[in-house]
Amino acid sequence: MINTMVSMGKTTIGLIGGGNMGTAILAGIGRTFAVRVCEADSKRAQVLKRRFRVAVMDITTVVRQSGIVILAVKPQSFEEVLAGVRPFVTKRHLIISIAAGITCRYIEKRLGHGIRVVRTMPNLPAQVGEGMTAVCAGKRATRADLQKARQIFNGIGQAVVVEEKWMDAVTAVSGSGPAYVFLFVECLQKAAVSLGLKKDLSEQLVTQTLKGGLALLEKSKEDAGVLRARVTSKGGTTQAAMDVFFKNKFEEIFERALQAAQKRAKELSLSI
Ligand SMILES: NC(=O)c1ccc[n+]([C@@H]2O[C@H](COP(=O)([O-])OP(=O)(O)OC[C@H]3O[C@@H](n4cnc5c(N)ncnc54)[C@H](OP(=O)(O)O)[C@@H]3O)[C@@H](O)[C@H]2O)c1
Repeated sequence: MINTMVSMGKTTIGLIGGGNMGTAILAGIGRTFAVRVCEADSKRAQVLKRRFRVAVMDITTVVRQSGIVILAVKPQSFEEVLAGVRPFVTKRHLIISIAAGITCRYIEKRLGHGIRVVRTMPNLPAQVGEGMTAVCAGKRATRADLQKARQIFNGIGQAVVVEEKWMDAVTAVSGSGPAYVFLFVECLQKAAVSLGLKKDLSEQLVTQTLKGGLALLEKSKEDAGVLRARVTSKGGTTQAAMDVFFKNKFEEIFERALQAAQKRAKELSLSI
């Protein structure tokens, strides 16, 4: 019979919800951990079973057989999932939530106060192993719990530990951030087409320029402002473009957009 918490020396992780983010997590942790999955959509469950060769089970069995339980369902399904988990969760479990806006306190209240909870905020590039995840501890979570959570999310990109009070800001920056990147790409591509370039060519020019810019930023260890100055010779073409950006308060737009996202994250969190 399979050991309930550890099989073949690996910590067993129970994943509840195998949607967009759940699947990304599964892809990242499948080799390091033994994983049990609970997924409400039976077709999706079968796909996950075949693709990742994981055991798909009901919620009770997943919790009973796991040392760590990752809650990867939408915030609106949380109440129901926590009610399903509660009878089987013990102080030996570590509960990790990836739900936007659901606080550690909310989970602790529903699962009982002795339960160790870690809250995380991953982002969509986790689907290609390039996610950015912020991790924070609930009341009972230990340093080792945070380490474990970091290990899990390092499997799908990078993970950092923050205090929970920063989670709304993190949500505004890296949680929503991929959408800002896509908007930037869309705008650049449209502007390129407006100069008369073909759509395919515009896409290639923009995508590779973005990739190259980021690669240079990562390798050179200089900050973005220094690198920008290096491309911007006085009186040159880049300078002409920069003048338009700054005249139109490009920086302020970003500041206001992130403040709006942070405010909305806080509102959503309070409304749950
Ligand atoms: N997507 C992002 O970019 C992102 C970023 C950061 C954080 N998050 C957080 O990640 C969580 C999941 O988001 P997602 O985009 O992965 O959502 P999703 O694609 O809808 O995945 C959730 C999955 O859980 C299943 N499910 C619902 N209730 C269940 C239950 N009681 N037991 C087992 N499975 C159940 C759903 O099945 P049904 O479809 O049949 O209901 C669905 O397949 C959310 O809380 C979100 O806030 C997402």
